[in-house]
Amino acid sequence: MVRKAIIPAAGYGTRSLPITKAIPKEMFPLGLKPAIHYIVEEAVQSGIEQLLIVISNSKHSILDYFDHSMELEAFLKSKNKQHMLKLLELPNIDIFYIKQHHANGLGDAIRLGKEFVGDEPFGVLLPDDFVISNQTPALSQLIEEYKKAKSSVLGLKQVKQEQLKNYGVIQGTPNSDLIEIENIVEKPKQDPPSDLAVIGRYIFTPAIFQCLEELKEGVDGEFQLTDAIKSLLEIEPVYGKIVSGDRYDLGNLGDYIELMKIMSREQSLE
Ligand code: UTP
Repeated sequence: MVRKAIIPAAGYGTRSLPITKAIPKEMFPLGLKPAIHYIVEEAVQSGIEQLLIVISNSKHSILDYFDHSMELEAFLKSKNKQHMLKLLELPNIDIFYIKQHHANGLGDAIRLGKEFVGDEPFGVLLPDDFVISNQTPALSQLIEEYKKAKSSVLGLKQVKQEQLKNYGVIQGTPNSDLIEIENIVEKPKQDPPSDLAVIGRYIFTPAIFQCLEELKEGVDGEFQLTDAIKSLLEIEPVYGKIVSGDRYDLGNLGDYIELMKIMSREQSLE
């Protein structure tokens, strides 16, 4: 059973400046909901019961959004605006928060979840990565594989050669529906080991925390999750699963516009 998940949301969003000076990327509107709402819904649909969101000082709007607004609710009730009260319903999940004081990298952000996770497998959802799938949500696809493999499973996507330098890229051997990972390289400048990039959905066994605690600064001077995965490979098998669905990167303006169109269309049909 994978019951817990972490959403790291403490990054600076530098690719989306200047708006991210005041509005966190996770709060970008997609239709009339902020981006992170869809990510939390994906967790709920994948059977996650408890979520830890890693935030920073400038991300209080995320806490506010997932909190009840007593005053507004009382106002709408007094006016008998039931349809509007319905819009205020929150996803049915327990949400906890922890602060990452400096954006030292994704590895550092996930490490902060050690106490929350304890001794169970857990999911990670990067809130700027969207996988639009008509069938099974991306995290759920990984959980299905975890149930069979009982090992960490990374979400993968085939990426164009010229884009590989922006991702963690794996080397591995196909093994039925999965790929047994042999190596992983963060943002390869040349000779990427394959065209399979790691995207922002993961299932980890708690053994990853041992690797995160021993992490040293890596590429870009940050504590890289990729480096911890590399150490994990030395302890236990790690698998990759090519996720089905279309992937969009919220930090890319073209992708953001596409996502905005998709979500607005969905909401106007509701
Ligand atoms: P990204 O590198 O894609 O996001 O990290 P970013 O750092 O916010 O944006 P850019 O690249 O500067 O434009 C992936 C996810 O990990 C979180 C980010 O908030 C994002 O959701 N993250 C990243 C942390 O929580 N802490 C970090 O130190 C780094």
